[in-house]
Amino acid sequence: MNKERKLIVAGNWKMNKTVVEALQLVRDLKPGVANINDADIVVCPPFTALSEVAKAIRGSRIQLGAQNMSEHEAGAYTGEIAAEMLRELEVRYVILGHSERRQYQKESDELILQKAQTAHAAGLQPIVCVGEALAEREAGHTEKVLEGQVRGSLMGLSKEQMRQTVVAYEPVWAIGTGKTATTSQAQESHAFIRGLLAKLFDATIARLVRIQYGGSVKPSNARELMSQPDVDGALVGGASLEAQSFTEIIQNSI
Ligand code: 13P
Repeated sequence: MNKERKLIVAGNWKMNKTVVEALQLVRDLKPGVANINDADIVVCPPFTALSEVAKAIRGSRIQLGAQNMSEHEAGAYTGEIAAEMLRELEVRYVILGHSERRQYQKESDELILQKAQTAHAAGLQPIVCVGEALAEREAGHTEKVLEGQVRGSLMGLSKEQMRQTVVAYEPVWAIGTGKTATTSQAQESHAFIRGLLAKLFDATIARLVRIQYGGSVKPSNARELMSQPDVDGALVGGASLEAQSFTEIIQNSI
């Protein structure tokens, strides 16, 4: 696939995989992705496996991401993980504002923006997630919800920071449900988000920022989703937990 923006396919392992299981998964992934140069390939294990996975993927095509981090740089925040600590483990990306954290940890757009700023200050590239719930889509509020999330969680980044940010469009109703957005639903939302980036930042940034689709991405639907002009990659949950399905998604995406 010939796109101006380099594809980025990331596996969000969520709260899965012990260190032993994580190492087995990356061992199984490495051969299948060894010759892929046209896409950034990222795995996002839980915090506990980052250090070992970092060592295991050295010298491979696989890059490392985390699933969350603190908005604070350091200090008395029991149980939190700082951006600097992630950097030390060779983490390059960090998922922020995933809908599960928005829902269960009540993360707000304002907090996600703070986290994104903290991530950039430490040299991490945030993957900022946005997406509407089913009731919002059915009520015809998809664009209003996306606009609120994009404004709230991204406006405040400098242009340079925005350029180094990945946006993930994950319709909440498609996550873990087996229900994928149709290619036209995905393309429509991605184009809308890109249009907003042009309005809020500028046309160059809108042209350069990568927008991933997430929500029940599988080997069977990856090719069609990735063929849409404004879909620049995938954020994969369940299907990234097995080497074969994640590898097939990557191969079908390029
Ligand atoms: P599933 O691929 O399991 O639907 O999860 C998507 C997701 O939430 C990725 O962040």
